[in-house]
Amino acid sequence: MAKKAIVMGATSGIGMEVAKLLAAKGWQVGIAGRRIERLQALISQGGITCYQQIDVTSPDAPAQLLELIEKLGGMDLYFHSSGIGWQNNSLDIEKEMKTLETNGLGFTRMVDTAFNWFATHHHCNPKARIACITSIAGTKGLGAAPAYSATKRFQNHYLECLSQ
Ligand SMILES: NC(=O)c1ccc[n+]([C@@H]2O[C@H](COP(=O)([O-])OP(=O)(O)OC[C@H]3O[C@@H](n4cnc5c(N)ncnc54)[C@H](OP(=O)(O)O)[C@@H]3O)[C@@H](O)[C@H]2O)c1
Repeated sequence: MAKKAIVMGATSGIGMEVAKLLAAKGWQVGIAGRRIERLQALISQGGITCYQQIDVTSPDAPAQLLELIEKLGGMDLYFHSSGIGWQNNSLDIEKEMKTLETNGLGFTRMVDTAFNWFATHHHCNPKARIACITSIAGTKGLGAAPAYSATKRFQNHYLECLSQ
């Protein structure tokens, strides 16, 4: 039976390419992100199974992820690529807060939802995985991007904790 992956942040960049690669390898893939026209364009190209418009900063996002898992008929891999970041030398507070909301709160909201889903559906596939694109900025802070670097370190630590 084909394995099933959810790709969060599949409307561009790394997430989009990973979604296409997984589909090309025979996975059933459910994609998500805010830009619905891009999700629909990917579906129309063929290969992707289903989509859900999800904003990880929304309190409704966990329910929407569960809906997408339902549409896909299960999940063997949760792949989280959603993220934002800026070089922010002027320390624009608005940019810093948005980064915290997406890479900190949004990341935690979605990864916890996936983790709890796996915890309660363990019988489905004991080899199920959560994978996230964090960043080298989480290893050593980049002076021009404090919130980005700090949230990427947060993500690394968070995942290390969940792995225990
Ligand atoms: N590119 C690099 O060199 C690099 C290096 C290290 C780490 N990374 C990390 O890799 C990940 C992907 O980066 P990328 O380069 O592929 O960037 P990208 O092309 O800008 O893709 C970012 C993805 O995140 C999604 N996203 C942003 N805010 C979201 C929100 N509130 N809710 C749901 N989805 C949201 C976007 O979808 P919508 O806008 O449609 O919502 C988009 O699909 C990021 O976490 C980034 O920090 C990238």
